[in-house]
Amino acid sequence: MSDPPFALIATKRVLMGLLSFIEGHLTSLLVFLVDLVLVVINLVTPDRPVGHVVPEGHPGTGGKWPAYVAPKQDDSRGSCPALNAMANHGILPHSGRNIRFKELSAAIRQTYNFGPTLCFFVPNYAANMLNRSYWTDSFDLADLDVHNCVEHDGSLVRLDAVEEPDQSKIARPLVERLLAAGTGANGKLTAADLSRLLGQRRLESKKANPTFSQAPIHRFFASANASTLLTIFGGIQQDIRTLLTEERLPDNWEPRIRHQMGLTMMEFNSSVLKVELGIREEVDGSLQAAGQERYGPGGKKLE
Ligand code: HEM
Repeated sequence: MSDPPFALIATKRVLMGLLSFIEGHLTSLLVFLVDLVLVVINLVTPDRPVGHVVPEGHPGTGGKWPAYVAPKQDDSRGSCPALNAMANHGILPHSGRNIRFKELSAAIRQTYNFGPTLCFFVPNYAANMLNRSYWTDSFDLADLDVHNCVEHDGSLVRLDAVEEPDQSKIARPLVERLLAAGTGANGKLTAADLSRLLGQRRLESKKANPTFSQAPIHRFFASANASTLLTIFGGIQQDIRTLLTEERLPDNWEPRIRHQMGLTMMEFNSSVLKVELGIREEVDGSLQAAGQERYGPGGKKLE
C-alpha cells in the first residue's frame, strides 16, 4: 500500500492539533466559570460548622481519621506529603498504586475540602502531564515525581531530584527549618514566611544544583504547594509538623477552610500570588547572579 500524500498527513495533524488546543482552552474556561459560581455560593452560604467540615460518613468525619499504617517497602509514595498521608490512612489505596485520577478528585474533595474545580483541575493537569486520560486512567503516587512535570527543583520540603532521586524521602532539615520559621500569632506560618523560605530554597538550590531549572509554571507550583499549608492547614505549626514529619493527619484535625464549596481556585490563587510575588530573591538580582556562577562535576564551583 502506498503512503498517503504529505498534504493529507499534514492537514490531519494541523486539525488534530487545533482540536486539542481548543478542547484544552474550552475546558479551562469552563472550569474558571464554574469556579466563579462556587465563589459566589461560598459568599452567600454559611461556612460548615467547626467539627463538621468533613462530610458525614466519610473518612475523617468529626476528626476521626482511619488508622495510620506506615508504608511498606513495596508501597508507592511520592513527593506530595498530603497524598502520601491519605495513602497512609487508607483513604487512597495503602499501596499507593492504581489510583484512578477521578478517585483522587473525590478523595481530596472530602479529605481536604479542596473545591470541586481545584479537585478536577490539579489531577487533570497531572494526568495530561503523564500523557494519560483523567477519565479512564490511573497512576501510582511515585508517578507524580516525573521531574519538571509537577515535581520541580527548589521545593520547600524536598531536596532536588538530582540530589535525592527518591522524592518520597522526607528532608528533615528542610522541614525543621520551615517549622521554626513561623512569625504569625502563636508561631503560625504566614505568606511572608513562605516567600522568605522559598526564596532561600531557590537560591541555595540554584547554587548547589548544576542542573537547576525552574520554569514560571514550576515557580507557581512551588508557591501553590506551599500555600496549601496556609489555607488547608491554616499555618498551624503543630498540624503541619504531623503532616510533614509523619505524613499523617493529626487526630481530631479537619481542614481549616470551612466554606461549603471548599477552597476555590480564585481564593487559592490569591494566596499563591501573595507567596510568589513576595519572593525578594526573584527581583534583587541574587538568583540571577547565582545563575552566572559556573559549576563543575559534583556541583563544585569553578573559579
Ligand atoms: C490533587 C492532587 C495533587 C497532586 C497531583 C500533587 C502533587 C504534588 C507534587 C508532585 C509535589 C512535589 C513538588 C516538589 O517538591 O517538587 C507536591 C508537593 C506538595 N503538596 Fe501536593 N499534590 C496534590 C494535592 C495536594 C493537596 C490536596 C495538598 C494539601 C492539602 C498538597 C500539599 C502539598 C505540599 C505541602 C507539598 C510540599 C511542597 C514543597 O516541598 O515545596 N498537595 N504535591
